[in-house]
Amino acid sequence: MRVLLPCLFLLVACPSTVEEPPPAEAPGFPDDFLWGTASAAWQAEGDYDPDPSDGFAVRSNWTVWTERGCVIDAQTNPAGAGFYTKYADDFALAAGLGNNTVRLTIDWARVEPENDVWNEAEVAHYVEVLQAAHDAGLTPMVTFWHWVMPTWVQNPTEVDPLDTLAAPAGPDSFWVQEFEEFVRHVAAEVGEYVDLYSILNEPFSVISAGYLLGGCGSEAFPPGRTLDLRGARGTAANLLFGHAAACHALRELDVTDIDGDGSAALCGMAATNNVMRPADAYNDDDVSGAAKMDWIYNHSFMAALMDGDVDLDFDQAFTTTAADNPDLPIDEGRYPQLAGTLDWHGLNYYGPISVVGLPASSIGGLPSIDVADYDPSLPHSSLGFAIDAGGFGEVLDAFAVYGLPIYITENGLGDPEDADRAMFLVEHLDQLQAAIGRGVDVRGYYHWSLTDNFEWAHGFHQRFGLYRVDFEDPALPRTRNGSADAYQQVIEANAITDDLRSAWIKERYSSDGRL
Ligand code: FCB
Repeated sequence: MRVLLPCLFLLVACPSTVEEPPPAEAPGFPDDFLWGTASAAWQAEGDYDPDPSDGFAVRSNWTVWTERGCVIDAQTNPAGAGFYTKYADDFALAAGLGNNTVRLTIDWARVEPENDVWNEAEVAHYVEVLQAAHDAGLTPMVTFWHWVMPTWVQNPTEVDPLDTLAAPAGPDSFWVQEFEEFVRHVAAEVGEYVDLYSILNEPFSVISAGYLLGGCGSEAFPPGRTLDLRGARGTAANLLFGHAAACHALRELDVTDIDGDGSAALCGMAATNNVMRPADAYNDDDVSGAAKMDWIYNHSFMAALMDGDVDLDFDQAFTTTAADNPDLPIDEGRYPQLAGTLDWHGLNYYGPISVVGLPASSIGGLPSIDVADYDPSLPHSSLGFAIDAGGFGEVLDAFAVYGLPIYITENGLGDPEDADRAMFLVEHLDQLQAAIGRGVDVRGYYHWSLTDNFEWAHGFHQRFGLYRVDFEDPALPRTRNGSADAYQQVIEANAITDDLRSAWIKERYSSDGRL
């Protein structure tokens, strides 16, 4: 979860909330519920090169970003968590937890290292990984864009600031065509193993951390632009049209229906869905700022991908033209090719955001909101995110209105000592169970993550794993954390029971400011 709009835009301070305790008699999870973990290619595999003699360099926009020293302590990512070689062992660990699914990425930078030059050995590798997942009893969900791209698509160096994700932008832009080509190249082979596609991961994390936040060495992502409004809007447009093009390609080329339910390719997007709350519910600017943020982060892409309605100045209307606003790469309006390209919704939930409105600071039509700090009255993860399981229930209710099946594509806690992860997990799954009890159609849950991995700008310092990885040891051994027991017990019970609540929910979080 990342909502890293620059300080000019957001004043974040998570408000205190009253958490409704879920009903003790909640009926548990459906019999066919999917239980899994999620990871992303580069975070788990890093730049590991399986065959240095093959003439293909394993280099991506994030490789370049780390080489520039833009990640904490100038860390680089030689092998992530070692997943590239340890995938079968990791799948065995996941199966041991009772998992029946796994979410992972096919890394574009590995498969197409140069434009139209395909590394078929990498395609074959991913096919082996998908087969191994099935062998372990895990039905895979696949992502095609989890922020990492080949350098010919985005090369964030000062010398060569190539960035086709931002520009040109539009329905038939270079980026859209190339992304579709990549998905088409692997669709049939991958499709033999996969029905569920979370095509893109968290567009707004990259839009904000890549184009607005700025700064190598901060929390920024490549390409590291500061307040580049046109770039942000171009990126939004390209990701929308890229998603749709990929979805149409998958529906055409993936003809293998794994589970026999009549659908061979189901398109979804894993989106950052935070509950946006006004820091002061009695302050009009905070209330309107929170509503604006809710529209941008949570709902603007839903309007585009469900109905085809594109809003790039985020004014909740679809009428601005590029002539009206020079920062718009294309006219707003209805684009039929986008409509109906979500078969399900992927929800990534990490915590709430509280918004303080600053009425006079509107820049370039972006909302007049500013970033401050999270509410000290809530407990926090090591990454500084507020912990608020009640907000999870609110977001689930807010997305139920779309009538799409929901999968929780990510939820987890940065917690280097594994002190609070079990409690976080059980509290959040309690909310999920309650939402299902209220009729919200949730089909699966992917915990982020099975093992520690490379946490973007925070490098190896942040740990989200149910299994701890010793990054000092070149063999990257895994050690089971206590929180893995909690997850396994929930899956075994297929419910949050009173026994599980009393076993795992402590009086308070270690980082708690709440009590
Ligand atoms: C999400 C990202 C994921 C991971 C978690 C902690 O925003 O999608 O890759 O970094 O945060």
